[in-house]
Formats: sequence, structure tokens, C-alpha cells
Amino acid sequence: MLTTRRFLQLAGITAATLVLAACGKKEEAPAPAPVAAAPAPAPAKVYVVGTDAAYAPFESQNEKGEIVGFDIEVVQAAAAKAGVEVKFVNTPWEGIFNTLQQGDRDMIVSAVTITDERKQTMDFSDPYFDAAQLIAVKETSKVAKFADLKKLKVGVQTGTTGDEAVTKLLGKASTNIKRFESTPLALKELEAGGVDAVVADNGVIAHYVANNPGGKFKTVSDKEFVPEQYGIAFKKGNTELQAKMNQGLAAIKADGSYAQIFAKYFGAPPAAKAAASAASK
Ligand code: ARG
Repeated sequence: MLTTRRFLQLAGITAATLVLAACGKKEEAPAPAPVAAAPAPAPAKVYVVGTDAAYAPFESQNEKGEIVGFDIEVVQAAAAKAGVEVKFVNTPWEGIFNTLQQGDRDMIVSAVTITDERKQTMDFSDPYFDAAQLIAVKETSKVAKFADLKKLKVGVQTGTTGDEAVTKLLGKASTNIKRFESTPLALKELEAGGVDAVVADNGVIAHYVANNPGGKFKTVSDKEFVPEQYGIAFKKGNTELQAKMNQGLAAIKADGSYAQIFAKYFGAPPAAKAAASAASK
């Protein structure tokens, strides 16, 4: 037989257990939604685009902090055609491709050169811009070709195709290669005399030299530099987004909006230039 005392003991334990359980449950339970709130419509997916916005005229920040440039306009126009919503997020170049792996970014649009090595770890859109490396030196420099940089101090942006080209020429172990986290930083160092030359994408070097007459720079081109093409980078296997963006790029090339954006940043559109040079033959 259960004594009263024993019964109360058991009941007490049980009651305490129930209270604890109830507390635990209460903490886990989410706050109830207000009854009057209408269910929110499913928001359209906004694709996050990573870009190192220190690369004018392709991507940079204006006085208002907005990310602007050729790449931005091309991808916005292509995305609009493809019915894809995009949002650009400034992202440091170093580690920029890891953000695709981690799922923090859906695309990288950052004047990214399509290379065989990169193709192993990511997928690319169709090319949307032709580029090559270009050398910036002081006006007084004797450098006349790429090979002249062999014994000089050369600034590059870490992990770019410019870095690759210079590493190949000067050697992996060379202490004359000065690596910077951005291309403008490398160019500032050239102005300060800390390096003898900077190697980077032609569009960016040309833009910087034109906009910094006080730096007293000149550019040196060389046919040694292999042709490069920019593409949008995707996480490997994201063929759905890749196909949509390819469709968008094709659409803006077909309807003239690509040529318009090109002309705004670089003068005559590539098709017009090609036609002009064909006509002069
Ligand atoms: N085209 C070069 C590369 O892919 C440099 C790109 C750097 N882009 C930038 N936004 N910093 O390696």
C-alpha cells in the first residue's frame, strides 16, 4: 500500500518533472505569430554576386558607395533578360572563389579570366569580354617589353592572371614579385617608387593611367601576353544558373544592349571596330 507521504513524494517529483518539461518546451517553442498577420508571399530568389569592387572601369564603388562599372551593367542587363534577380556584394579578391563553394555567393563577376585551371573548380558563362595583360611603368622607364621586367621589382594583385604571368617570368621563388591585395594598391606603390612596374589587365591599367596624370605613368604592351576572356563564375555544377545567364548574355549581344554598354565604357563597340578594320582591308 502507498502511504500518503510516499504518494505526495511521488506526486511532487512528478509535478516538478512536469514543470521542468513544460519550461523546456516553452523555451523551444517559437513565439506564436500574430493572428492578424497575412502569410508573406514567397520572396523571389535574389542571387548574390561577389565582386572585388576596386577594379575600375569593370567594378568600383562610386561616392555613394554603390557598386558600378562595365561588369555590373552587363550582368544586370543579362540577368534582367534571363528573369534573374541579382544583388552585388563587395568581396575581397583573395578567397573570392571560395565563397562559391561555401554558398555565400551564387556568382562571381569580377573581370574573372576564364582559365583551364579555374575550370577545374568552378564553371563559367560564355565569355563576355576580351582582355590581355598590360604593363604600367613610370614615363622615364626603359622597359620596352615584358622580358625587360626579369630583374625588376614588379607589383601584381595576388592570385590574378597578372600574378601568374609575372611568376612565370621571374620564377616562383623570386623576391622581386610584390603582391598586393588590390590592383590600385600595386599602382600606388609604383607611383611611390616601391616597385618598377605593375602587370594587370589592360582595361584597368589603361583606365588608371588615364585618370592619374600626376602619376606620370606609361603603358607597355607585349604580344607575349596570351589573350584572355572574362566570364561569370559559378559553383561547379550550377548548370541551371549558368544556362540562364548564358541566355541573358546572348540576348543582350543580339539586341544591341551589350554594344551600348561597351561603347559607354570603351568607345566604339567591338562589332563596329571589327567592321571598320574589315572595311579598311
Ligand atoms: N582578370 C584577372 C584574373 O582573372 C584579374 C581580375 C581581378 N579582378 C578584380 N576585380 N580585382 O585573374
